Amino acid sequence: MRSRSLTLTACLLAGASLACADDEPAAAADTADVPEGRLVYGQYMATVGDCVACHTRPDGEPFEGGLPIETPFGTLYTPNITPSKGYGIGSFSDEDFLHALQDGIAPSGLPYYPALPYPSYTKVKDDDLLAIKDYLMSLEPSDYQPPETDLRWPFSVRDLMFGWQELYLDRGRFEPDPTRSDEWNRGAYLVEGLGHCGSCHTPRNLAGATEPSKAMTGAIVDGWYAPNLTSDLDEGIGRWSVDELATFLRTGLAKPDAEAAGNADPSDAPTTAALGPMAEVVHDSLSKLALSDLRAIAVYLKDLPPREAPSHEAKVPEVLSEQDYVQGRELYVKNCSACHQDHGQGLQPYFPALRGNPVVNAEEPNDVLKTLLLGAPTDPTEAFSPHVVMPSFGSVLTDEQIATVASYIRANWGNDAPPVTADAVKALRE
Ligand code: HEC
Ligand code: HEC
Ligand code: HEC
Repeated sequence: MRSRSLTLTACLLAGASLACADDEPAAAADTADVPEGRLVYGQYMATVGDCVACHTRPDGEPFEGGLPIETPFGTLYTPNITPSKGYGIGSFSDEDFLHALQDGIAPSGLPYYPALPYPSYTKVKDDDLLAIKDYLMSLEPSDYQPPETDLRWPFSVRDLMFGWQELYLDRGRFEPDPTRSDEWNRGAYLVEGLGHCGSCHTPRNLAGATEPSKAMTGAIVDGWYAPNLTSDLDEGIGRWSVDELATFLRTGLAKPDAEAAGNADPSDAPTTAALGPMAEVVHDSLSKLALSDLRAIAVYLKDLPPREAPSHEAKVPEVLSEQDYVQGRELYVKNCSACHQDHGQGLQPYFPALRGNPVVNAEEPNDVLKTLLLGAPTDPTEAFSPHVVMPSFGSVLTDEQIATVASYIRANWGNDAPPVTADAVKALRE
């Protein structure tokens, strides 16, 4: 079967592929409909959610966890979700399971990191998730213990994720649109919910949240580009037919230009093949779905209004040279944005906003420079937030670098204060 070998080749190309190598090759879906029967249905929905992709490490048993996931904040290891009581989720109640996947909250009450795609799974019906749970509980328990998750401070502080959830998590089940067909609604439910397509195809901000205003306009994942899936003609899938899309999802292969180009012989047309992470999605998940569901997904995608990826050109403030701007931005992203966020908007209630902040905008830069050199607060009783402090950069950055990053935050996001020189930093150090 052609699709089979291609998917396998694609898996090899992907390098660190998960279940590609020795696993049963993708059997193209020959079921026309979603299966009935509780456990088979649960297994099917787990396949839509592609739980196995993240919850299986290379050479590990399915669902026993331990796959490292790189995030800007450090490395996360996926947990064991087999029914083991000590190592897996054997002691999760139905409520615990729903709370984890729909709200991103663990039985301990602490939040999960959004590497578990609960911003998508929150859309999934209780009964579909509980069918998945029943299926997982029917598996052999594994007592494998994944390595400890190792995130960079302050992201190792799980409490921080409460702030993240408040800002970026939109909890709630999928609401069908009564003006659309059942097929469209089924597609929307699968794409937005269990399929979590947006977790790769939607760009993220520096806090790691997908940006709803740019939904499905394309994003970088593990160095791969997950393309625009709106019906934009140039960047998106506007030129694909529903059938071509469904075929691509099922086999990882398509000739999307054949029809548009009016090619009499489709074998002349260029072929698109699923690569990298998408090859895994096709192999582990989409190739095993019912044709009716793949068509529904294609119908929904084809109907996404065309949207071009927004231009990422940022404006260089007038008071900064291009070079100071680029260096300032680099220093800011590396040292500051994890806390103060990509547009200086801060993260309540933990980190103050730098945008529109009177300390940052003061004519004299002394307070900004002192904060950078010494950290804050100097008086703990006046702390902005009880758990987190501003680290001292005095021994981490040079005078030049401190001046550059201070000038950057003083001139961006509507801030409007004059640049700072390295001499001013040097003077303050003395
Ligand atoms: C994109 C990767 C990814 C996918 C897909 C994924 N998970 Fe996870 N899952 C994670 C990560 C990472 C964590 C741990 C998050 C943390 O430590 O804060 C997690 C945690 C969990 C937990 C909590 C386990 C515990 O011990 O606290 C459950 C339950 C879970 N996932 C079930 C599922 C199910 C069911 C699916 C499929 C519908 C699924 N996951 C799909 C990455 C994923
Ligand atoms: C783990 C990340 C990931 C997830 C999840 C994911 N994709 Fe992709 N997708 C990619 C990447 C990367 C590519 C580009 C590589 C390629 O062309 O195969 C891609 C390519 C595609 C393409 C080809 C587009 C083109 O213009 O060539 C389609 C269609 C597609 N994905 C649909 C989907 C759908 C539908 C879902 C959800 C069911 C989904 N993807 C989920 C990463 C992902
Ligand atoms: C680990 C998180 C963290 C990092 C990283 C961080 N800050 Fe802060 N920053 C804070 C906190 C918390 C405060 C508030 C301290 C307090 O309680 O007064 C703060 C305060 C400030 C203030 C003073 C604002 C005011 O209203 O008093 C400035 C200016 C500032 N930070 C700039 C920066 C710059 C520039 C960087 C990067 C070089 C940076 N910060 C990196 C957490 C951080």
